[in-house]
Order: sequence, then C-alpha cells, then structure tokens
Amino acid sequence: MTRSEEKIIVFDTTLRDGEQAAGTRLGVSEKLELAMQLAKLGVDIIEAGFPISSPLDFEAVSLIAQQVAGPTICGLSRAVDDDIDAAGKALKKAKKARIHTGLGISDIHIASKFADIKYGKTLNDKKEKAIEMGIKAVKRAKQYTDDIEFYCEDSGRADKEYLYRVIEAVIDAGATTVNIPDTTGYSIPEQFGQLIADIYAKVPNVRKTIISVHCHDDLGLAVANTLAGVANGARQIECTINGVGERAGNASLEEAVMAIKTRKDFFGLGTKINTKELYRTSKMVAEALGSSVPPNKAVVGANAFAHSSGIHVDGFLKNPLTYEIMRPEDVGSPQSKVVLTARTGRHGLKHRLNELGYKVSESQLEQLYQKFLEVADKKTEVFDEDIAALLSDQIRTIEPVFELIYLHVSSGTGTLPTASVKIQTKEGIKLAAAFGDGPVDAAYEAIREATGLSPKLESYSIKAVTSGKEALGEAIVKIIDDGITFVGRGISTDIIEASAKAYVDAINRMVWAGKNKSKEPEIKTEL
Ligand code: KIV
Ligand code: ZN
Repeated sequence: MTRSEEKIIVFDTTLRDGEQAAGTRLGVSEKLELAMQLAKLGVDIIEAGFPISSPLDFEAVSLIAQQVAGPTICGLSRAVDDDIDAAGKALKKAKKARIHTGLGISDIHIASKFADIKYGKTLNDKKEKAIEMGIKAVKRAKQYTDDIEFYCEDSGRADKEYLYRVIEAVIDAGATTVNIPDTTGYSIPEQFGQLIADIYAKVPNVRKTIISVHCHDDLGLAVANTLAGVANGARQIECTINGVGERAGNASLEEAVMAIKTRKDFFGLGTKINTKELYRTSKMVAEALGSSVPPNKAVVGANAFAHSSGIHVDGFLKNPLTYEIMRPEDVGSPQSKVVLTARTGRHGLKHRLNELGYKVSESQLEQLYQKFLEVADKKTEVFDEDIAALLSDQIRTIEPVFELIYLHVSSGTGTLPTASVKIQTKEGIKLAAAFGDGPVDAAYEAIREATGLSPKLESYSIKAVTSGKEALGEAIVKIIDDGITFVGRGISTDIIEASAKAYVDAINRMVWAGKNKSKEPEIKTEL
C-alpha cells in the first residue's frame, strides 16, 4: 500500500463522549437513528455508549450492535470487571465488536482516583497497581472480543516515561488499539504531536498496535491536536459530530476529516468518510441534542460557504476558488451563497438580481443600489424578500389594470377545491368561479377567467416572512409571456390570498409591459 492510499481510522464517539455534553440525553431510538446515519457517513467505529452506566445505555448499545451494519460497534468500560462484562454482554450480537477500556494515568488522576490505601501507599505503588489493573482489564475484555482498545486517560498531562510503560504493558496484554487522550484539552499541537512521535520512538512494541488520538477542546485546540497526532503517526482519530462533548467538547469529526481531505498534499492520507453526508449528519445530531450549529462553524455552519464583503463577493463570482477551499457539494451543504449586506457592493447586488430573474440596466442598478444601501444600513442582512420589496417600490409606477377585491375559496378532504373571485377593472367588476387541483390552482383558474388572460405559470413559491402564529406568508409567482418573465409578489397572513395577490400582480406587470412596449420598463424581468 502506498502512503497516499493509507486511510485514517475514524472512531466516532458522538453517542458516548458527545452525549456527555452538559444538558443532553439521547433516547434509545434516537441513538439508533443516529448510529444508522453514522454508518451511512462511513465511520469505521461507532462508540455507542457506556453500557454499565445505565440500563438505557446498555439497551442502546445492544440495539445498535444488533441492527447497525458496517462499522465496528464499541462500548466503553472502566478497567473494572463489572464494566467490562456489561460491555461484553451489550456487544454480544455485533458483527464486529470492540471494548474500549482503560484508566487515568496522569499523576493527578492516579493520586485522586486511587487515593484509597488498597491501591498502594505511595504514588509509585499506585502507579504500579494501575499498570496491573490495565493488564487485567485487557485480558478480561479479550474473553469477549479480540478487538480491544485501551485508553490512557489524561495522557496530555501524564508522566511520559510512565505512559510509555503503560502502553507497552497493555499491548503485551493484547490491546489492538491504544488511545492517547488529551482528556483535559491541555496540550498545544506541537507538544501533542511530539508526544505521539515520542511514543513511536520509545515504546518497543508500538508497531503491533494502532495509536489513536482523542482530544478535547478546552483551549479550542482539539482538531489542531488531533491533526498534529496524525502528522506524527497516529492512525485513528476519535471525534464527535459538531465537536459536541464533555465541557467544551471533542474534536469535530467534520473538521478533522475535511482537513485531512482538503490538505491531502500535506498529510498524504485519506479516510473512508462519505463527506457528502457530513452536513446532513451535523443537522441530525444538532436536532437530536437540541443544540444549534453556530453559523460560523467550519464545514457545516450556515455561513461556511457564505460570502458577504464586496471584495470577496467580486472574487468569488469570478472564480469560487478565490475564496473557497472546499466545495459545498463535497460536504452535502447547500450551494455557496452571497449574503447581501451593506458591504456587498453593486456587483453582488446585480448578481442576486440576475439570480432572481431580474435584468437591470446600469442606471437602474445605480438607483436600486442607493435604496438597497438604505435598507442594508438598517438590517444585518438583506433578504430576497427585501429586494422584491425594493423592486416593487421601483415599479409601483405601473398602473394596475386588475385589482383583486374578493376571494372565496373552499377546499378540504373529500371536496373539490373551488374558488370565486371579483376583480375590479376600469370597465367594472368581473366575477368568475372555477375549480382546480387545489385551492391555489382553483383561485388561479378563476383569476384567468375573470381577467381573460392565461399566461404560462413558470414558478410559484410561498414562504413565511415573519414568525409566529400570525406569520405573514409571501408568495412569489413567475409567469411567462412572449419569452419574458414577470414576477408578482403578494403578502398576507392567509397564504391562499397571498398566492392570488401575487398572480394578479404578475398579470398587471405583464399587461403594463405590453402597453408600454416602446418604452423600456424600469425593471425588466427575463428568463
Ligand atoms: O477524554 C477521555 O479521556 C475519554 C476516555 C474515557 C477515552 O473520554
Ligand atoms: Zn473524552
């Protein structure tokens, strides 16, 4: 195998360490659903829980072991017989099972956790006892599976010479993976990388095992430390989706994986992760944990592929690679977007207008841009509906030929949707009634009948523009006449009414343009 083909093993601990995040608790079915998604994402190992910790965790690990195919399923245990037995039992039905056992090995952990005299009188006695316990735990876990991972908790603050001895002993006892956690997020990347390099240099039997890194984010360095570990020989990374976890969390899987992929030139490594599933997985985890993904979160945040300042927008529109090192589609994220703010500039505004189907002349753009700046100075972001409002302000100079003055729609299960409308025209009120496939379709049919016009409906969309029970719905309708698109907009708390108003608005624009063919409309809309 060449170096460029070498794969980093991805160990996901969202369902164990991730769930330890303060204020979160996942139910059994939620864990199962997330485990299915993690399998789809292509993680190599799912740490499904800590079976001895609660009957629910035991049940979740057992269920995932039985039902989730693909990844190895892992259960956590302390270096204690009962824990190991519980993990072994919970994993019984797994096709590929791993027990993750271990203990604290820094002086502070040993002195505090093994304070009882039964572990020895002096710190040194206790340290020897801890090695014995580690060996015993690995051997006991071996009764359940060959795949044993041993964690040397708080390695980041451990006495290095002692750490090497622990690692050597547990490998001899049969540990197939040795986990080097920076449990307290204390390490600095250079230092943590050096620790992994030193383990390779100092532990004689290290090549018989996989060295894993498990970093916490107390100083915001979890991913950096993970990558420093990889650069120095670690071949398994332990991560959580969105970096959730105990205290400040764990290394974020999406960040570590995308760093390895994006900087293949540097690492010369890969993973088996299907990165197109990252965004979806991030959303699912956030939803299940009741947390939200910060907009500026790398890789999966709402702004990860959003461009706002004039210089960036201009560069991005010329060539996305000027300001993007990953493609949104590679992580399954929605398209890159230009976020319109006061800093966006004319080029960005023109681009968005074109995207929305509007073609403007340079002088129209200038007028619109000045109005846009007034709005942008008052708001953090200018949305499409604000632009639509700006545009309609600009073209309100058209005289509407039709006005919807009455709308009645009846629809429901088992009834044929029908609509009746009254449209005010210069010649008087036109009445019409029609039925359709749904209430909007029926209303549109009645409007066509009343106006005597049947433009082709190009697209229709409705969205809430305010929130709450009394939310305003905004309908945007595009119709085509003679190859030209006309956009109508309608707002109401009643979405059928908003839809009908938008259609009449679009028809008015079409009629106005027809009457004024010789003059250029102030804002022309095109396909
Ligand atoms: O952070 C840590 O040390 C852990 C171990 C239990 C692996 O989560
Ligand atoms: Zn941890």
